[in-house]
Amino acid sequence: MCGIVAYIGPKDAYPILIKGLKRLEYRGYDSAGIALLNGSLNVFKAKGKVSELENLVKNADLSGNVGIAHTRWATHGEPNDVNAHPHYSQSKNIALIHNGIIENYASLRKELEARGYTFQSSTDTEVLTNLIEDIQINEEVDLLEAVRIALNQVIGAYAIVVLARDDKDTLIAARKGSPLVIGIGIDEYFVASDASPIIEYTKNVVYLDNEEVALIRRNKDLKIKTIRNVEKTPYIQKLEMNLDALEKGGYEHFMLKEIYEQPHSIRDSMRGRLHPELGTISLGGIIDYEQKLVNAAKITIVACGTSWHAGLVGEYLIEDLARIPVEVEYASEFRYRNPIISEKDIIIAISQSGETADTLAAIELAKSKGATILGICNVVGSSISRATHAGIYTHAGPEIGVASTKAFTAQVTVLTLMALRLAQLKGTIPKTKFLHLIHELGLIPDKVEQTLKGSKKVIEIAEKFKNVRNFLYLGRGYNFPVALEGALKLKEISYIHAEGYPAAEMKHGPIALIDEEMPVVVIATKRGTYEKVVSNIQEVKARKGIVIAIVTKGDVAVKGMADYTIEIPETEEMLVPLLATIPLQKLSYHIAVMRGCNVDQPRNLAKSVTVE
Ligand code: F6R
Repeated sequence: MCGIVAYIGPKDAYPILIKGLKRLEYRGYDSAGIALLNGSLNVFKAKGKVSELENLVKNADLSGNVGIAHTRWATHGEPNDVNAHPHYSQSKNIALIHNGIIENYASLRKELEARGYTFQSSTDTEVLTNLIEDIQINEEVDLLEAVRIALNQVIGAYAIVVLARDDKDTLIAARKGSPLVIGIGIDEYFVASDASPIIEYTKNVVYLDNEEVALIRRNKDLKIKTIRNVEKTPYIQKLEMNLDALEKGGYEHFMLKEIYEQPHSIRDSMRGRLHPELGTISLGGIIDYEQKLVNAAKITIVACGTSWHAGLVGEYLIEDLARIPVEVEYASEFRYRNPIISEKDIIIAISQSGETADTLAAIELAKSKGATILGICNVVGSSISRATHAGIYTHAGPEIGVASTKAFTAQVTVLTLMALRLAQLKGTIPKTKFLHLIHELGLIPDKVEQTLKGSKKVIEIAEKFKNVRNFLYLGRGYNFPVALEGALKLKEISYIHAEGYPAAEMKHGPIALIDEEMPVVVIATKRGTYEKVVSNIQEVKARKGIVIAIVTKGDVAVKGMADYTIEIPETEEMLVPLLATIPLQKLSYHIAVMRGCNVDQPRNLAKSVTVE
């Protein structure tokens, strides 16, 4: 969601900014823009992709070694050239880019209109730009002070970078809610929504905290203060990410690359944590909270989307193995429904990006009630990872495809480790079972590798059903969240309507949809409720539905009934989600490609959802 890049230093800003915008394309956007300062302050903006912006500026003067650039995901006002960022102030002395939402923009706009300001766009951002200019003029303060005062009047979320025509040596950046990171190079600074545009220039970064304003000056030290005017010492951290992780590496799409990375990413999630040879699991990130978890009367998991699905698998795992009651909540519901939370509670927040606004708000709410908050995040240094008391990184590596794939299996891996560790500490499973499960978990990366081999069957199924309008996904037990995740993946990237259901719920409604045109994907792996699922398949077949079944290698019964089967290797029931998800990711991918969809950047979606 909205991407910010800014540069100040000795080099030409334009190529750095454009490359940075391209690195942020994965976040999702519908227009792009850039402002360059070279004596005059020139703003160029275009609806559509960054390539449209490049076409627009082909013959323009693009000189200047300071500039700001933005990809916009529309909130206030439709995606068009005018609403795109950067926005000029009325006098055109200031240009500003913004990620987030200014909630009180309407009243601020009214006040500014009364003072003679006119607006070109319908955005909240232009209001903030003029507010800063108005303060600068009326209160006779410098730009930093004007930004600081303006932000005290703003309600909402923001990450902003401001550039003024009369000062080629300064950028002002600030954040609340939406992320912002400052890269410190030699005689140069970079600012971006995440580290991906910065990584090829420097590994030294400072993550701005909420309500902090940064004064970034050419050839001078970085200065940070809060919007309440308290000086802060910049805390410089080293990025661990490397550039290869941000490239497609020969794959046609990031999503495909990320699907195929899963043996590796799952291994990374377990590295240093799972020790089958020693018969132990160690989770350093939450070691100080283990006893609290063991004694917890209840754990609440908060998350959104795919992370919420991982949370559901987590619920089944933790309850099954460690016998601790778990509730899984949509963060967006939790934050507004007055939940019963006290200092005795433990909240686990799951997020790939670590920036999801609803999950962050759920954390803040639970924190305000004294609860202990643990995080399971992928992006190191992200807002959620910093807002939690402790946590476990998934270490899946950067996920660029908007549809989450390897992040999901990494989250499930971490939750499995956590459930097993708690079970070990609580003594809720026999030692032999524990040892067997950790041995089986250690085999999962190789089994994922086997699952990924050969796409003929999946491609055949994709070809057959690429033009249908609806899909149904069914699963029971551990495979119910897999069904939900399979359906979400398909609708996100192929725009085919898909529903995930617990298989037994079918007869309470969705069965009405079944006819000879309805493909029903059933996760029908061995053990657990296998026989029950077989009955559900019969119910579908009795109504002439088309069954595509995910089965355990060597299965005979389902093969005899289903129209199509895809085999996955045998594993323990509770580990099946790590394998069964893979063919469903591939099915969605191939269907979307065949339909000509933009797989990595599906319409209307954003990779990190920084607005509620
Ligand atoms: C699905 C997807 C979204 C995210 C959701 C939460 O493929 O990408 O549903 O899972 O927006 O995002 P994070 O995990 O970053 O909090």
